[in-house]
Amino acid sequence: MYVCVCNALNENTVREAARKSKGSQSAVKVYQSLGVKPQCGMCLCDAQNICNSEKSIQRAS
Ligand code: FES
Repeated sequence: MYVCVCNALNENTVREAARKSKGSQSAVKVYQSLGVKPQCGMCLCDAQNICNSEKSIQRAS
């Protein structure tokens, strides 16, 4: 399922990028690490939730 339609990013792609950034990045920075940037911005809340989820997982491990 796409998280970001504008950039064709699915959940796994965003989650993996957030994981590689050690869970400390904002959604915008995670997008930058993938070589894209937000366009319409409709996805940022969901993308940030994914980043926060990865941050929580990394803190717990
Ligand atoms: S859906 Fe992600 S920037 Fe538009």
